[in-house]
Amino acid sequence: MKYNFAILGAGSIAQRMGETVQKTDIVNGYAVASRDLSRAQKLADKYGFDKAYGSYDEMLADPAVDLVYIATPHVFHASQIEQCLRAGKHVLCEKSFTINADQARRVTALAQEKGLLLAEAIWPRYMPMAKTLREFAAGDKIGKIHSLTANLGYPVYHRERLHDRSLGGGALLDVGIYPLTFVSLILGDEVTEICSSAKLSETGVDTFENIVFTYASGAQASIFSSVTCPTDRRGVVYGEKGYAEVGNVNNYEYLRIYNTDHELIEETLCPPQVTGFEYELAACAEAISNGWTQCPDAPHEMSITMMELMDKIRSPWGLEYPEL
Ligand SMILES: NC(=O)c1ccc[n+]([C@@H]2O[C@H](COP(=O)([O-])OP(=O)(O)OC[C@H]3O[C@@H](n4cnc5c(N)ncnc54)[C@H](OP(=O)(O)O)[C@@H]3O)[C@@H](O)[C@H]2O)c1
Repeated sequence: MKYNFAILGAGSIAQRMGETVQKTDIVNGYAVASRDLSRAQKLADKYGFDKAYGSYDEMLADPAVDLVYIATPHVFHASQIEQCLRAGKHVLCEKSFTINADQARRVTALAQEKGLLLAEAIWPRYMPMAKTLREFAAGDKIGKIHSLTANLGYPVYHRERLHDRSLGGGALLDVGIYPLTFVSLILGDEVTEICSSAKLSETGVDTFENIVFTYASGAQASIFSSVTCPTDRRGVVYGEKGYAEVGNVNNYEYLRIYNTDHELIEETLCPPQVTGFEYELAACAEAISNGWTQCPDAPHEMSITMMELMDKIRSPWGLEYPEL
């Protein structure tokens, strides 16, 4: 069975999801909802969706909608997730999942109470390379891992939702979540110490930051994220018998493993993809058909843990977001 898929918020990332739905056979592109009907209509027409709605409420009142993809700025996620769940819809919500861990706990509890799927659209978690990375981390190809470094940055600060604190602006929640995800896949989440330093903008959001995690194992991770400059997007893992390089922690391209003589001993390439969003869509379709409230690749506990980590990272910066 193909589930009827609706997009809530017809902005930038909704385009990529529209394209994914159109080019794959995973869900049925059913509806687009925007505060502006013409914007919804334009996106629906472009990607072959059946219906366009000029309000989210109208779309949520349509009993034919099965699964809603929330594609709005972070501050709206928690309240919109609740709206969707209360309307009886399954939900796939963009990252960052919510604005803080309390909200993440609240919405995941509601999904479980309602028996509906709630999944975070943190797409690298669903990619085949995530499994490759977990297996690599569990293996012994580079010996005991001592350290890791990962970065992600784009010069996107000029965009309203990235510099406006009231929309959840800043680098950590928007791009920092990707190197954090990479680090989590390799080293897990038993972080015992967090040190960080952020550069805050005149609007009070973090334009870039350096973060160091120390783990119970003694390993350390060093993360850089930025909304003011482009970075090489690499992740590098250092072990006692060699090191490994991952291309693009935003959308994994390859895993290359080197020995102590800097010789390439193994390379795994990311399989060809449509847009990279097809894996999260397929995971949602599988979860709904099995009656699951969460996707095994990105369970609720993971979303809560990542929000807890980001709460702890930004707390010393004095960066707080409004709760809608
Ligand atoms: N997975 C990825 O690779 C990826 C990439 C980029 C972004 N994202 C995530 O996707 C989400 C949306 O990002 P985006 O770049 O698509 O955002 P965007 O284009 O700035 O906005 C998306 C939609 O959100 C609503 N919106 C924007 N500003 C609003 C405001 N001030 N008040 C009320 N509603 C507002 C609008 O919906 P209407 O159409 O209804 O007006 C807009 O069309 C973010 O959480 C971001 O982190 C994910």
